[in-house]
Amino acid sequence: MRIGVLSKIMTEEEFEGALISPGSNLYYLTGLRIHEAGERPTLLVINRDGVHRLLAPSLYENSIRDFPVTFWHDGEDPYAKLSAILGELGISSGRLLVEDTMRADWLINVMRLGSFEFHPLGPVIRRLRMRKDIAELKLVKKAAEVVDEVFEEILSWDLVGMRERDLAFRIELAIRERSDGISFEPIVASGENGANPHHEPGERKLRKGDMVILDYGAKWEGYCSDITRTIALGRPDPKLVEIYEVVKEAQENAFLTVRDGVKAREVDRAARETIENAGYGRYFTHRTGHGLGLDVHEEPFIGPDGEVTLRNGMTFTIEPGIYVPGLGGVRIEDDVVVDGKGKRLTRADRSLVQL
Ligand code: CO
Ligand code: CO
Repeated sequence: MRIGVLSKIMTEEEFEGALISPGSNLYYLTGLRIHEAGERPTLLVINRDGVHRLLAPSLYENSIRDFPVTFWHDGEDPYAKLSAILGELGISSGRLLVEDTMRADWLINVMRLGSFEFHPLGPVIRRLRMRKDIAELKLVKKAAEVVDEVFEEILSWDLVGMRERDLAFRIELAIRERSDGISFEPIVASGENGANPHHEPGERKLRKGDMVILDYGAKWEGYCSDITRTIALGRPDPKLVEIYEVVKEAQENAFLTVRDGVKAREVDRAARETIENAGYGRYFTHRTGHGLGLDVHEEPFIGPDGEVTLRNGMTFTIEPGIYVPGLGGVRIEDDVVVDGKGKRLTRADRSLVQL
């Protein structure tokens, strides 16, 4: 059980307890789907022996079963109940792991319950979450298949004349029809908007001669995919076609660098050198990729400073891009798993599609 693995690390590294608020870590550890709890304190408490108890608002009384839980009702003091749980689990002082994204108002109240030394949970739990087991890999793969299918569907649409925001909405619908939902808001960046890597889809209408960056992702039982394809409508500027080939080669070179035992930064370097050698180095303005799992951005990060050694079972993106102000941009992104060498999970066509 994953709580057991975490508590073993807690014992080794002398943490007295862990406090985990709703989010992907809580789901990873318990399988409980507790979404945004809003302002009502909801916390999983774990001690170093792995004994655990959830504090939850009474709203969840009918949905949480077969799990040790203490409910509190509106009007009651949740922190008095939390204090009782901490006492029951023998946590009164010392080093405490807390969820990185815990609300500040919750943490400030927790600070009053004992003399604790607080440490972020993220760097500890990422060691468990980075390598996916077989069941997790199936889910990431399924999420990747969804975005491949959606790409096929996009190519069948009449894109010329469509507003970016309408295309983004249609992509979102196509994802939701096939999966649990989107892993982030789809990006559609057409023409000169392509020069902004995180462009927010707007009023601009797609027209002949555009390069269009499409970046979107799906969720399957909590696990995320994330794909980018850049397509051409009609005949784009020859400079952009040249750039496309450079990005494609950079993405391929980075992919070929992936194997069990290499550092993340070596994968980044393969992409970066290809783009630098083609003379576009200053237009590649972000890291090459990011880990992918219950969060759409997680460890390992594939950047120039990526010290993580890639191991079998790790899943991440490879997504180099070139962004030229006033002209446009190209990005190509695949999801990859380390299995001896790299294996692509997203398989949509990477050659330049011209519609
Ligand atoms: Co993406
Ligand atoms: Co990405």
